[in-house]
Amino acid sequence: MTVERDVVALGSFEFECGESIPELDVAYEAHGEFTGDNAVLLCHALTGSHHVATPESEHEPTPPPAEQTPSTAGQADAWWDDVVGPGQPIDTDEFFVVCVNVPGSCYGTTGPASTNPETGEPYGPDFPPVTVTDWTRCQRRLLAELGVSQLHAVVGGSVGGMNVLDWAKQYPERVERLVPIATAARLDSQCLALDAIARRAITTDPNWQGGDYYGRGHPDDGLALARQLGHLAYRSKSSMERQFGRTEARQEPESSLVPDDPGAAAFPYRDVESYLDYQSSSFVERFDANAYLALTRAMDAYDLADGAASDADALAAFEGEALVLSFTGDWHFTVDQARSLATALREADADVVHDVVDSDYGHDAFLVETDRVGSSLATFLGDGIDGLTETDDDAWETETGVDSVSAGD
Ligand code: COA
Repeated sequence: MTVERDVVALGSFEFECGESIPELDVAYEAHGEFTGDNAVLLCHALTGSHHVATPESEHEPTPPPAEQTPSTAGQADAWWDDVVGPGQPIDTDEFFVVCVNVPGSCYGTTGPASTNPETGEPYGPDFPPVTVTDWTRCQRRLLAELGVSQLHAVVGGSVGGMNVLDWAKQYPERVERLVPIATAARLDSQCLALDAIARRAITTDPNWQGGDYYGRGHPDDGLALARQLGHLAYRSKSSMERQFGRTEARQEPESSLVPDDPGAAAFPYRDVESYLDYQSSSFVERFDANAYLALTRAMDAYDLADGAASDADALAAFEGEALVLSFTGDWHFTVDQARSLATALREADADVVHDVVDSDYGHDAFLVETDRVGSSLATFLGDGIDGLTETDDDAWETETGVDSVSAGD
């Protein structure tokens, strides 16, 4: 099984805003062999990376030489180990699977923490404002370098799902199948608010220093708070209640995490706090605060209907098939938002199935419910929407009496 990780220098890159950088390095991971019509692009979520799956060889006690399998240290863990690989739902014996770390991130693709070759200093807050459309254009250029001009499918969750929709809008003729998962055409007001608070947590950290903190500390506390807020949005109320309840943590909080607060001594440090502290501590070790600002701004700014009359109008040139996946316990990107997306795709004459997965995990269900997600994905990548069942009880045909699958015929 061929797995390639590399960083490709794409030369200068002009962002959607009109600003340019002289050199865009792009980190990617590719699994399988390209046969001309079997390319599947995976789009990662906000703080994910191009590291989608760990090949068998890297599970072995003695890893192969570093030059053959560049290290993934410092990156997010592989986010779809149970979904991508030989014999897995996205079968790398059959498909050539590519995932690209997006511009603005911090896992090898140029972002705010990268050195600006013109100054010799990190870009920091001067990194151009990046958009989801910039990600799409960057992925297109990287795929061209790999000799891929046509995609069998584009698949992604969360803001990665917005990236999927943007492919259908920017390059509709290059994509046959879309799988937007746990996503929406745009963020709603509450999610915009959470992101705004998260950014404020970073920019009010004493170590923020206007974003020019490289070599002079890092706004760890602000970034940790931002991650904790994010993590709440990734879980449902019931799944957190079930996992933690009101239980007191077995250990005291690490002193470095909690400012001096004598009043707290009389009250318990709870399991749920300990969990969030754990999750955020590991996150700040691997993520850059400026990148967090850049990526959340890209997500907040994304609106499928920008420059079009409606969501359906934005998708009008896409002539393929779509599997929209949503999760009952996801309040970050709701089933209702996914239904609107499926309706827009149908209005655009695409053949669509909206598969609602019954899971109370929350938004992160797309990372956790891999059996259920994988089963629909495998069917769709192999046979298209034939063989899939619409599981949205309030689907479009219920409202209109028109059969969803044949609506685009
Ligand atoms: N105190 C301290 N640590 C705790 C804890 C507690 N009370 N309860 C659990 N943990 C630790 C576990 O030891 C485990 O650590 P490890 O990852 O080092 O093994 C970790 O928390 C497990 O986290 P949990 O969320 O319970 O695991 P999961 O299997 O249900 O979920 C993920 C896995 C990957 C979805 C989740 O951990 C995660 O990282 N979510 C964020 C993913 C993300 O970025 N989503 C954004 C999409 S936009």
